[in-house]
Amino acid sequence: MKFIIGFLLGLIVIPIAAYFYIKSGNVPAATSAPPLLFERWAARTALHAIIDKEMPRGSPVAANDETYLAGAKIYRAQCAVCHGLPDQPETQISQGMFPKVPQLWKHGVDDDPVGETYWKVENGIRLTGMPGFKGTLTEEQIWQVSQLLANAPKLPPAALDILKLPLKVE
Ligand code: HEC
Repeated sequence: MKFIIGFLLGLIVIPIAAYFYIKSGNVPAATSAPPLLFERWAARTALHAIIDKEMPRGSPVAANDETYLAGAKIYRAQCAVCHGLPDQPETQISQGMFPKVPQLWKHGVDDDPVGETYWKVENGIRLTGMPGFKGTLTEEQIWQVSQLLANAPKLPPAALDILKLPLKVE
């Protein structure tokens, strides 16, 4: 009996406490605030679980020079403002984001399966600023940019030349 009363009280008290906490003005909302306890863990765990379930296991677009060239052009136009370019400083836009944007030419994703990167680019990552490109890039374009990132350490000079052009025109 005591247990049931305690359980029911918990059912009422926890949502009320959560409501007042959220309304209290103490929950971080600025991009510069540190992450909440468990925030990072919950976001990562949910993301990995859904990607494991849904990511394509192989790529219909071959990893070759033509793909890298097309991928590099897409990357400059759609990704570089956030994820950076080789040997170039992080942009102001990227510095102001929360969570932090991985700078992909410093810490790449070439150890992730290409299908995982494809999933992230197609679907985006909710509440992080990482856009989903489904419907705005074609499937082929998403594969091209994913292959570029999966093979970042072994890109041919032609693709690197495109990536190394400065983002900002002075
Ligand atoms: C507006 C900024 C923004 C743009 C534009 C953007 N991204 Fe992202 N991207 C992010 C953020 C923020 C994250 C980190 C999400 C997180 O914390 O899980 C991210 C994560 C990723 C990841 C996972 C990195 C890792 O270390 O696991 C990949 C891959 C990626 N983006 C690829 C791309 C590609 C390819 C494009 C262009 C087609 C792109 N992004 C465009 C903000 C952006």
